[in-house]
Amino acid sequence: MTTLQAIQSDDNIILTGFMGTGKSSVGRLLAERLGYTFVDTDDVIAHRCGRAVHEIFRREGEEAFRAREAALARELAAGKRQVIATGGRLMLDADNAAVLSRHGRVFCLWASAEEIMARVAADTAAVRPLLAGPDPESRIRALYAERREGYARFTPIMTSGQTVSEVVQAVCERLAVAQE
Ligand code: S3P
Repeated sequence: MTTLQAIQSDDNIILTGFMGTGKSSVGRLLAERLGYTFVDTDDVIAHRCGRAVHEIFRREGEEAFRAREAALARELAAGKRQVIATGGRLMLDADNAAVLSRHGRVFCLWASAEEIMARVAADTAAVRPLLAGPDPESRIRALYAERREGYARFTPIMTSGQTVSEVVQAVCERLAVAQE
């Protein structure tokens, strides 16, 4: 039996982690491998609002964005067989984490601060409102330090130096182990 066949649960798979750890790329491929629905919370919110996340921050404020995340977390928790790539802070909210963990396996993707900086800089398509200031590097380090403990509550998956496919394999292995 392959690793994928060994995963016999309808539970959602939730990916959390700092910006630039690869939640969306890993989530998309993982969903494809498992035959699950892929959901990216930032994309759903942006689509429903008709504007990009940074525009929502600018026009409505961060609090309004967080309220949208909380509502979406509750909605998604009712579904099954979804791979959910969450915005970088969504699972650090205790209520969001509780509701999504009830029928979900949560994995936290980690990368070194250096790698996060390189990935965020390379990803010119995404505007990240929290890093929009004059010194994104210091902001990344400060936010990372602030959030480290919160992310550490979830099953860790290290992504530094790994391809997307290797990270997907690592998640599948952890899922299969959890079934035994
Ligand atoms: C945020 C991360 C972003 C997005 C928003 C806030 C954060 O998602 O939700 O800009 O607070 O870490 P990604 O982690 O997908 O970049």
